[in-house]
Amino acid sequence: MKDKVLILGGDGYLGWPTAMNLSNLGYSVAVLDNYFKRWIFNKLGITPLIDCPNLQERANIWKGLTGNDIKVYVGDIGEQDFLFKVVKEFEPDTIIHYGEIPSAPYSMLNHNTSWETIQNNLGATLAVMWAIKTINPDIHLIKLGTMGEYGTPNIDIEEGFMEIEQSGRKDRLPFPKLPGSFYHLSKVQDSDMLYLGVRMWGLRVTDLNQGPVYGIETAESRMDKENRLMPHFHYDEFWGTVLNRFITQAVVGIPLTVYGKGGQKRGFLNIIDTLQCVRLAVQNPANKGEFRVMNQFTEIFSVNELSEKVKAAAKNLGIDVTTKNYPNPRKEAEEHYYNAKNTNLLSLGLQPNYLTEKVITEMLEIVMENKKNIRQDIILPGRAKWQ
Ligand SMILES: NC(=O)c1ccc[n+]([C@@H]2O[C@H](COP(=O)([O-])OP(=O)(O)OC[C@H]3O[C@@H](n4cnc5c(N)ncnc54)[C@H](O)[C@@H]3O)[C@@H](O)[C@H]2O)c1
Repeated sequence: MKDKVLILGGDGYLGWPTAMNLSNLGYSVAVLDNYFKRWIFNKLGITPLIDCPNLQERANIWKGLTGNDIKVYVGDIGEQDFLFKVVKEFEPDTIIHYGEIPSAPYSMLNHNTSWETIQNNLGATLAVMWAIKTINPDIHLIKLGTMGEYGTPNIDIEEGFMEIEQSGRKDRLPFPKLPGSFYHLSKVQDSDMLYLGVRMWGLRVTDLNQGPVYGIETAESRMDKENRLMPHFHYDEFWGTVLNRFITQAVVGIPLTVYGKGGQKRGFLNIIDTLQCVRLAVQNPANKGEFRVMNQFTEIFSVNELSEKVKAAAKNLGIDVTTKNYPNPRKEAEEHYYNAKNTNLLSLGLQPNYLTEKVITEMLEIVMENKKNIRQDIILPGRAKWQ
């Protein structure tokens, strides 16, 4: 029997596909979620493209297809008694921590949503650290951070650390961080807490600084012909990542919503590469007392480059796509230097799946099949006003 993996945030866009992927590979998997996202979607009046059954229902469907169990825990990571009970009962070798509020626009909406994001995210990470320290310090923690922690400095972005020389002395220190929202700041603070846990308690931690993810399907979600195992796919301005939004806008005939000049560059990856990266981290754990940081993306694009790619792929399907520049609701550089390193995961064996026209075409086709679900009232920018 392979290792036991506990996935926090297992109901999410990335959590559930990761659970199926590792279960398919023979790992014993448990998922934990408090359904925060479903609750906040109700509150904000937004819906994903495809309705996803709850975790227990999906675990039952998965069991029917594969015979594999995925154990389900429903509760809040930050509630110590609950989390300790789960970790003691399931006895994971690895914990993958996706369970946070991941929306930059939501975190900038007002005082309450900023605090909710910071409190939830830091509270969750701190609870996981104490659970590991108290119950089994040997557990490997894989934590999802974001490339947005670094911001867009005018120098190359290293993977977590950099050599610094000052007044004739040298040291290897954490790379400077310049987050652009309270959400990204919460990830920086998570990273600082984790590094402290590594130095003080000897924890073993992998911090994956991930770029925006795109994609709808994975090998495992395709196994259910009724599409009940698809990831939550978001196209609204709070939870939708840029390429997922552009694809949906193209299908529904809305000009692609380019914020500002569209020169913003970021590192992107396909959801199937998220699964690959996390799997590589599970298979190659950090050492005890190691804070291992890996930048998790496969290609760098500007927003304008993405919109051009969507236009070209849509044209082949007979869809004419235009773009519209909107005043940027974010405070961010719209033309800047961007060169981030991503060699750590490649050296562990990552085989990137690049953003080809075929990949975009397949995404367009799936969204077209679900066109009736697309809500025009949540697709345009306007509600997520940054303060
Ligand atoms: N999707 C991306 O493009 C992307 C990019 C970079 C980093 N990340 C990071 O990856 C992780 C997963 O992202 P995602 O897109 O799947 O997000 P998601 O919102 O779809 O999933 C997160 C899940 O965590 C749950 N959750 C939040 N707080 C919780 C708590 N206190 N207790 C229990 N469950 C809780 C939510 O209900 C949700 O199901 C996040 O930490 C995010 O910051 C995502």
